[in-house]
Amino acid sequence: MATTTLKTPRHVAIIMDGNGRWARERGLPRSEGHRAGAESVRRVVEACHEFGVKYLTLYAFSTENWARPVSEVRALMRLLKDFLEERTADLHRYHIRLQAIGEIERLPAGVRRKLSEAMAATAAYRKGTLTLALSYGSRAELTRAARCLAERVREGRLRPDQITEAALERCLYTAGQPDPDLVIRTANERRLSNFLLWQASYAELWVTPVCWPDFTREHFLEALQDYSRRVRHFGGLDDAAS
Ligand code: FPP
Repeated sequence: MATTTLKTPRHVAIIMDGNGRWARERGLPRSEGHRAGAESVRRVVEACHEFGVKYLTLYAFSTENWARPVSEVRALMRLLKDFLEERTADLHRYHIRLQAIGEIERLPAGVRRKLSEAMAATAAYRKGTLTLALSYGSRAELTRAARCLAERVREGRLRPDQITEAALERCLYTAGQPDPDLVIRTANERRLSNFLLWQASYAELWVTPVCWPDFTREHFLEALQDYSRRVRHFGGLDDAAS
């Protein structure tokens, strides 16, 4: 299918999995898998620019990932810091704004500093939005949103009958962003793993056996082409059936 006929999703979210398996297959430490994974991030950011995907959200570090060995967590934080230092140039080149969702306050101070610098430097760009999910978990996000609504009710700023889907959405980290249209997961796992559970309610899922470090522009295009062929009903009926 020619790329010109693509029905491009506005928002693609990716569960980048298989860095560890990729490294193990090569007799390398897991940190090398993550390093190679950071290269795939660079390729996918470029691919979004090329194919006109406006929003890209990447599951870079989950709330559960804190339970990994300290050495691996340190390696991931180091990588993240390097990425923020080295790849901000790409964000400027493509006019992409950087955002982050998750418990940012739990990240090491050095990472937080680089993150705020990169977000501030790119805040005015509107060609694309790259969102990094960092220390992110959907259940924690929804719990935080429930707490935020409860506080408003307690303060008398909101009535219980004003707790609507839209009111809850305004309390999510992703407030103001469109929901993902397509969720990609690599390394053949078929789970959402606590990622954007609310926001991905109607997203199309695309799973590939390819480990994240091997994920290329061509795999991304394959996912977009598959998405392009799908008919989305959002729980309704298509025109022919109605
Ligand atoms: C899952 O692979 C991947 C992660 C837990 C981290 C993702 C991080 C990167 C791709 C690199 C850094 C990110 C940025 C944004 C620069 P896994 O370790 O769970 O793999 P396995 O299931 O094969 O062990």
